[in-house]
Amino acid sequence: MKEISAIAKGIAPSATLAISALSAEMKAKGIDVVGFGAGEPDFETPENIKNAGIRAIMDNQSHYTSSSGIVELRAAICKYLSREFGISYEPRQICVSSGAKHIIYLALQTILNPGDEVVLPAPYWVTYIEAIRMCGGVPVVVQTTEEQRFKISPEMLNSAITDKTKCVIMTNPSNPTGVIYSPDEVRALGEVISKKDIYVIDDEIYASLVYRGEYLSFAAINDDMKERTIVVNGVSKTYAMTGWRIGFAAANREISTAMATYLSHSTGNPCNVAQYAALEAYSGDQSSVKVMWEAFNERRKYFVSRVNEMKYVSCIEPDAAFYIFMNVKGMYGKKVHGEVISSSDDFCRLLLKYGLVATVPGTAFGAEGYVRWSYATSMDNIKKGLDRLEEFISLAQ
Ligand SMILES: Cc1ncc(COP(=O)(O)O)c(C=O)c1O
Repeated sequence: MKEISAIAKGIAPSATLAISALSAEMKAKGIDVVGFGAGEPDFETPENIKNAGIRAIMDNQSHYTSSSGIVELRAAICKYLSREFGISYEPRQICVSSGAKHIIYLALQTILNPGDEVVLPAPYWVTYIEAIRMCGGVPVVVQTTEEQRFKISPEMLNSAITDKTKCVIMTNPSNPTGVIYSPDEVRALGEVISKKDIYVIDDEIYASLVYRGEYLSFAAINDDMKERTIVVNGVSKTYAMTGWRIGFAAANREISTAMATYLSHSTGNPCNVAQYAALEAYSGDQSSVKVMWEAFNERRKYFVSRVNEMKYVSCIEPDAAFYIFMNVKGMYGKKVHGEVISSSDDFCRLLLKYGLVATVPGTAFGAEGYVRWSYATSMDNIKKGLDRLEEFISLAQ
């Protein structure tokens, strides 16, 4: 047999999905695992959105649509972007596809030539690094520290940029750390981006889940930054619609046209019915977003206070999203049931084995020493999981 492609051979599987699969396997065997691995809301899609999907089926919305999405949805997205973030786009600048994850590939495919460099601040969301490679790019990882609240500074960005740099990927708010960049920080990074003449892929998928601090999109800084920003967002997190698979990009005309052409030859169009559900999400009653926001915020506060009362572990207070990025370095060198912990992988493996709690090691996000906990799970599960963590820590010798 001929070999498969070098790119395909080099792709690493998603570590977050691997942990979810392992804990699901244990659960299927009747083991009472508490899962903190999944990056999706535990809420169901709101009724008004589900009904819009049902109506779309009954109205025979079962045909192909425009490859970058129905114009009504793209117009509703423009209104959403203007209402929430103060950025104005025309529907032809919006490309809708099957989830923000796919939009990120599409954005990278649209702007990268083979060998182009992409600056990626770490900790980063697992998919980016593989997506960059799959699109022929070269990731240039810039390590941030907990002392900096895991944020890249303008100086760090500036020195990571070379002649080969095409773009930087910013995740604001961040998965896995839950931090946001302040408007001043966004502007200062924007200056470097403008001066160095590169693009920014601004992943804003958690931008409607900000609990503290002011939020600014890179596209909202000024006209120049709007031209060089590819805004990525979608319905998954804000409207509890992960399985509907609708995400979008907002970009300048050249990029949005090229993206639309890509889409016409690849996906054809995103699911027609899901587009009508997303249309209701963006243009219908928003009260369910507030309800979910409040629940996440309450869990966030509880989580942070419990963790910071414990021995050997700690976490910074996140501003947004639904993740806690826990520092577990205090557990290094300790033994649990005779097994030594010397990495975040060990910590997660042993916590799953002895504590029956599933989490994701920081190595998956390019940040050894940390463990990501998703608090997109019920308060009961959070209490149970943290009780188990406490018990696990008490076993450490
Ligand atoms: C930072 C970030 N971007 C994008 C996505 C993907 O979202 P979607 O469900 O729209 O593909 C996720 C999902 O975990 C994410 O955390």
